[in-house]
Amino acid sequence: MAKHPSKDLEIALLDERHDRAGFNCGVESLDRYLKTQAGQDVRRKANGVFVLTERREPSRILGYYTLCAMALSQGDVPEAARKHVPRYPLVSATLIGRLAVSKGQQGRGLGAILLADALWRAIESASTVGSSMVMVDALDESAAQFYATHGFVHLTDSLRLVLPMRLAAGMAKP
Ligand SMILES: CC(C)(COP(=O)(O)OP(=O)(O)OC[C@H]1O[C@@H](n2cnc3c(N)ncnc32)[C@H](O)[C@@H]1OP(=O)(O)O)[C@@H](O)C(=O)NCCC(=O)NCCS
Repeated sequence: MAKHPSKDLEIALLDERHDRAGFNCGVESLDRYLKTQAGQDVRRKANGVFVLTERREPSRILGYYTLCAMALSQGDVPEAARKHVPRYPLVSATLIGRLAVSKGQQGRGLGAILLADALWRAIESASTVGSSMVMVDALDESAAQFYATHGFVHLTDSLRLVLPMRLAAGMAKP
């Protein structure tokens, strides 16, 4: 498991001890995913779903993110990222498909903690199953801005952003 800036926090794979129904980030599709789909995705290995909790209240989900394997066409790789990825027609990638923080907890750094943890796991797993980039699908321009402040670059005309895996190491926690 990744190290966290606070020993009071834990990020772990979603399981039955977590209260999925109580989560509310203000975006209905992200809340619904956690309530109705996430458990099945974990069982079927469609997504890794990682949840952030406080150790003193381990059932209450403060935030979550998902990870899965993807591939991106070479032609879609942004110019700024090209020198860091191989010239294959399909470039392997790890997708952070969703990332959300509970409404009452936003703005206190938890999103940044979740993103750093996701990058750390992406780097770790890429050493076993290769992956040249981290990719995110932002819900809107504001969410895209959150990722851009963390070094991700936009694909043309899209809310999808990428970060070459080589550069992700600088963003993840030690
Ligand atoms: C986007 C979201 C995950 C950010 O989480 P958070 O805990 O509020 O963010 P943090 O407090 O960790 O902020 C980290 C940094 O990102 C910036 N940031 C946060 N939300 C931002 C936004 N919507 N737009 C631009 N920058 C943003 C913060 O200013 C902060 O920058 P700093 O480190 O320079 O101060 C959270 O607001 C959320 O869950 N929103 C609803 C769901 C959503 O939009 N998810 C997006 C991905 S699909």
